[in-house]
Amino acid sequence: MKKYSVGVIGGTGMVGQRFVSLLEGHPWFQLTTVAASARSAGKTYEEAVGARWAMDCPMPESVKGLIVLNAETDKEQIAKQVDFVFSAVDMKKEEIQALEESYAKLECPVVSNNSAHRWTPDVPMVIPEINPEHLDVIPAQRKRLGTEKGFIAVKSNCSIQGYAPALHPLRSFGIEQVLVCTYQAISGAGKTFETWPEMIDNIIPYIGGEEEKSEREPLKLWGIVRNGVIETATSPAITAQCLRVPVSDGHTAAVFVRFEKKPTLEEIKDIWNKYQGRAQELNLPSAPKQFLRYFDEPDRPQARLDRDLEGGMAVTLGRLRPDSQYDYKFIGLAHNTLRGAAGGGVLLAELLCAEGYITAR
Ligand SMILES: NC(=O)c1ccc[n+]([C@@H]2O[C@H](COP(=O)([O-])OP(=O)(O)OC[C@H]3O[C@@H](n4cnc5c(N)ncnc54)[C@H](OP(=O)(O)O)[C@@H]3O)[C@@H](O)[C@H]2O)c1
Repeated sequence: MKKYSVGVIGGTGMVGQRFVSLLEGHPWFQLTTVAASARSAGKTYEEAVGARWAMDCPMPESVKGLIVLNAETDKEQIAKQVDFVFSAVDMKKEEIQALEESYAKLECPVVSNNSAHRWTPDVPMVIPEINPEHLDVIPAQRKRLGTEKGFIAVKSNCSIQGYAPALHPLRSFGIEQVLVCTYQAISGAGKTFETWPEMIDNIIPYIGGEEEKSEREPLKLWGIVRNGVIETATSPAITAQCLRVPVSDGHTAAVFVRFEKKPTLEEIKDIWNKYQGRAQELNLPSAPKQFLRYFDEPDRPQARLDRDLEGGMAVTLGRLRPDSQYDYKFIGLAHNTLRGAAGGGVLLAELLCAEGYITAR
């Protein structure tokens, strides 16, 4: 099989490094191009990243010698040499919106990890196991952009991955209200304990913008495509508090939920353990065999023990029990830079290829 030729813009950062690591040995994708800011452009990838390499695995040999291009000024060259790009840049929102749109207009599809386009009504925000049908909006987006092949698709925020997937298959019971507290790892801020020593023995009760994303983004996932845009769902009501905790990787969520038609505990566990999405049906290379995994042990899921299950792509759940104010409460955990960032991006790109939205030249 001919591989898709792939670029990563923002490839030198924390999420970019995850993309670079995941693409090493990928059965469908060949990383040929890395781009970043003017600070890194012109250097080899190894020189540009230097001591910032934050992955557990060594830097892939095949990438070390790649010359980093300038994501802004080398756009035409990049768009010509790849079939699509992953976007993992950290810039101002309007700058990211403009940059990603300019790649799309150069007929280079963009699979973005960024939040900049998540609320653009004709940009699909997709978790392949939850709302693959939102890709139907792409023809309308292409029409707006005046493109044949180019478009932007995004993944959702890392904070919602520990609870939105668990709630999704329970929607037939009429979810009325959700209260969630997230306990978020420091890699979500692009940091390690070396670069953020203030997080050792500490909790910071504020992550800018995160509570709004945690409350609103599930409603876009559960929206419907109509007249070339995604109409956001209006329920359930979600309220969130998001805390930064001294954990390297893995966002935990403590969730309380109320239903219109209350299911039994056993029904919920059974639905979770059996749930299969489009990613599993298509057997995509990065899809976990079991998307939702429930643990009966009372002290699971734990970040250190469970975040890496199925390559960090499974969502682990536990402690489902009745609540005195809501119907039930439970704990969810997802790896924030794998399922919640680069891994979710790679899985989305696999879906876009499998469904024919991205083609190899
Ligand atoms: N970390 C997470 O778990 C996580 C999860 C979900 C979403 N995100 C989002 O993903 C994005 C990247 O996060 P990160 O943690 O990987 O950030 P990061 O480590 O700070 O990396 C930022 C990347 O953007 C590049 N960049 C910065 N300014 C640029 C410019 N003007 N032109 C082109 N490239 C530029 C940097 O290049 P240089 O190396 O040349 O400076 C670097 O490659 C952010 O928007 C973040 O909010 C992060």
